[in-house]
Amino acid sequence: MSDVNRKVLEEKAIAPPEGFRERALVGSLAEYERMYRWALEDAEGYWREQAKLLDWFEEPKEILEWELPHAKWFVGGKLNVSYNCLDRHLAKRGDKTAILWESEDGKATAISYHELHASVCRFANVLQSLGVKAGDPVAVYLPMIPELPVVLLACARIGAVHSVVFGGFSSVALADRIRDCKPKVVITADGGYRRGRIVPLKATTDQAIESCPSVQQVVVVRRTGEAIAWKDGRDIWFHELVARASENCPATAFDSEQPLYILYTSGTTGKPKGVQHTSAGYLLQCAWSTRLIFDLREEDVYWCTADIGWVTGHSYIVYGPLANGATVVMYEGAPDQPAKDRFWEIIEKHRVTILYTSPTAIRAFMAWGREWPDRHDLSSLRLLGSVGEPINPAAWKWYSEAIGKNRCPIVDTWWQTETGSILISPLPGATPAKPGSATKPLPGIAPRVVNQDGEPTKPGETGYLVIEKPWPSMLRTIYGDDERFRRDYWQRIPGVYFTGDAAQQDADGYFWVLGRVDDVIKVAGHRLSTMEIESALVSHKAVAEAAVVARPDEVKGEAVVAFVTLRSGEKPGNELHQQISDHVATTIGTIARPAEIHFAQALPKTRSGKIMRRLLRELAQKGNVTGDVTSLEDLSVIEHLARAKGMDEG
Ligand code: WT7
Repeated sequence: MSDVNRKVLEEKAIAPPEGFRERALVGSLAEYERMYRWALEDAEGYWREQAKLLDWFEEPKEILEWELPHAKWFVGGKLNVSYNCLDRHLAKRGDKTAILWESEDGKATAISYHELHASVCRFANVLQSLGVKAGDPVAVYLPMIPELPVVLLACARIGAVHSVVFGGFSSVALADRIRDCKPKVVITADGGYRRGRIVPLKATTDQAIESCPSVQQVVVVRRTGEAIAWKDGRDIWFHELVARASENCPATAFDSEQPLYILYTSGTTGKPKGVQHTSAGYLLQCAWSTRLIFDLREEDVYWCTADIGWVTGHSYIVYGPLANGATVVMYEGAPDQPAKDRFWEIIEKHRVTILYTSPTAIRAFMAWGREWPDRHDLSSLRLLGSVGEPINPAAWKWYSEAIGKNRCPIVDTWWQTETGSILISPLPGATPAKPGSATKPLPGIAPRVVNQDGEPTKPGETGYLVIEKPWPSMLRTIYGDDERFRRDYWQRIPGVYFTGDAAQQDADGYFWVLGRVDDVIKVAGHRLSTMEIESALVSHKAVAEAAVVARPDEVKGEAVVAFVTLRSGEKPGNELHQQISDHVATTIGTIARPAEIHFAQALPKTRSGKIMRRLLRELAQKGNVTGDVTSLEDLSVIEHLARAKGMDEG
């Protein structure tokens, strides 16, 4: 953990802005502490009370059934997730805008709760007509268009289990994820727009399902209108199906633990893991945390800039905000399309009040300069959020000043695909902020920083971040691999949930999350597995061996550095370099493209043949190696590598 052992504790606490605190849902630290104590002393009572945020068809009989590592929340309760996000709002706010969709080319479409409800009902009927039943998986590979939340809520309505694959993933990555959960139906689009260019989603889907025998039907949303290949009998247009479908689709009651979705995320092996979330606990904790952390009010215009292909979009574009009846902005495109002020233009145009984005985006805005936000009226903003990676104090301060004009609190929210919802975050009207710290756990959440024996660390000492008790939105298992679920999360430090993050707690009890301790890296907030990139590299015909490490990057947080050895007869050079880089992009997606590829004669290995990634990391980060090399098999390897790296840099 040495490379995350940096000093983080010098920041002073900044009280919530006065004007904000007065009107906040939770307006003092004492109030937060009271809630925290209640949840600590009487977890079941606390969650029973919070469960009133949802509409139940049948009240839960028992709050928690916990048999480590398996939790069942709100046992015996019955509800419908889509009913909670739609139907129950119709009487009170049916004409309120649910989704305010901004296309990349600048057109805005407001979709009311009534309209969203009707679209979801129609598509739920479509799914049923295609033979999709409760419990069946449905793969979704769509751009950021309104049909995406419609599809998710339609699945939820009939108890089908969506598996969304981020539209930036390649056909190989898509195929891996489809083969794992074996859906009969895939929902995609003819294409999507990214910086004015077309992303050919249907062509990628066609290629992927060549190796996915489970798929019988491909539903295609028309977005670009470009010509696409068509397979009669398998491919069907979304708009033709919904035109024929009825708007009447009563919400049926499902068990609290009805699976809601699978979302694949990167782990420490080459195989992505299907994180399994279920219904009531997940929805409740999303709804509850959205309200508390974003201090959500009826009149807010809330914008989370994530893609729905990631968990942030699932929890904080779709389920959390819609369960609260909020108005959600959804943007199709890139932050610099057509110019570097697109975000600020959207905020001004729609009078956005809450902005939730990533440190990588903030650092990019910083690099682009203040003239871009300064051109726009951002006075509608009242709260800012950050998620996905540690935010460095400089970026935090820039965000606060340039965007929040020092009026808006910032919530630095820590969580994971696995946790389902935010676990550590300030409450904006209560918790004094420290730039770079996600501050304190939400009520009901018991994080600890421990050493490898599970013993608590002292303030300021780096350790592993673990969570001591179950929480409603926690993952229930890894789809099809409960053994991996136990091994990865519950056996590293027995009895507690292992997050894979390094952290420190300071003397005030604030949490400082420092980064991953496993082979997971975070590039622009996207979670990648070094092993997955290594297997993509060695699947190139010229590559014999590969090792991937991360180095810090000014904007993206981390960048991918690859060391490869070539098969005999292959010549290193620019052309091969490009080919290998493209190969990674087409095998996984452009997000995994290495920032650097170094050709090596050999990789440093221990006597037992393990690649010494620690040395490579040092080499990638500092350009030379000073650490302990006593177990290195052939010392000259490191010299060669350092020289080769120096050469292709010079
Ligand atoms: C990992 C989870 C959180 C939803 C989107 C990403 C890192 C996340 C923070 C934060 C420091 C953070 C952790 C975590 N991370 N938020 N506020 N401060 N680190 O979900 O792809 O599952 O990644 O992102 O390393 O383990 P994910």
